Amino acid sequence: MQKEQIRNLIRLALEMRKSAYAPYSHYQVGSALLAKNGKVYTGCNIENASYGAANCAERTVFFQAVSAGERHFTAIAITGGLAGEEPADYAYPCGICRQVMKEFCDGDFRIIVAVTEENYQCYTLAELLPHGFGGASIV
Ligand code: THU
Repeated sequence: MQKEQIRNLIRLALEMRKSAYAPYSHYQVGSALLAKNGKVYTGCNIENASYGAANCAERTVFFQAVSAGERHFTAIAITGGLAGEEPADYAYPCGICRQVMKEFCDGDFRIIVAVTEENYQCYTLAELLPHGFGGASIV
């Protein structure tokens, strides 16, 4: 991926973080997902008084993109941190979100965890979910 593409995704994820609904954990997460056709979708975490009903920013953006008809993806940028503060560290996707990525993405799908547009780490899905369980195992 080009550096400019990565920076743009991070910028959108940082912006989207402001929309996070996280009154319980106060941990706000933003995500930006690049589809293979070039379209970008954004999402945030959405919590609930019934804590288990919370949705992570990564699943929010995947479900939004998939429900818009997208099926092929290149990369996701993720940024998270406490409300009222700039992100202090990389926010890695939780296990459930990695599994959702596995449903729609190849092993070379890029996962960018970012603190700022300049300070980020880039992984492949295969690196963050090795030996994952997917549809190929059951068809
Ligand atoms: N969260 C995400 O949005 N993405 C993750 O991958 C991990 C956790 C959210 C869920 C919850 O709203 C808050 O962060 C604290 O767990």
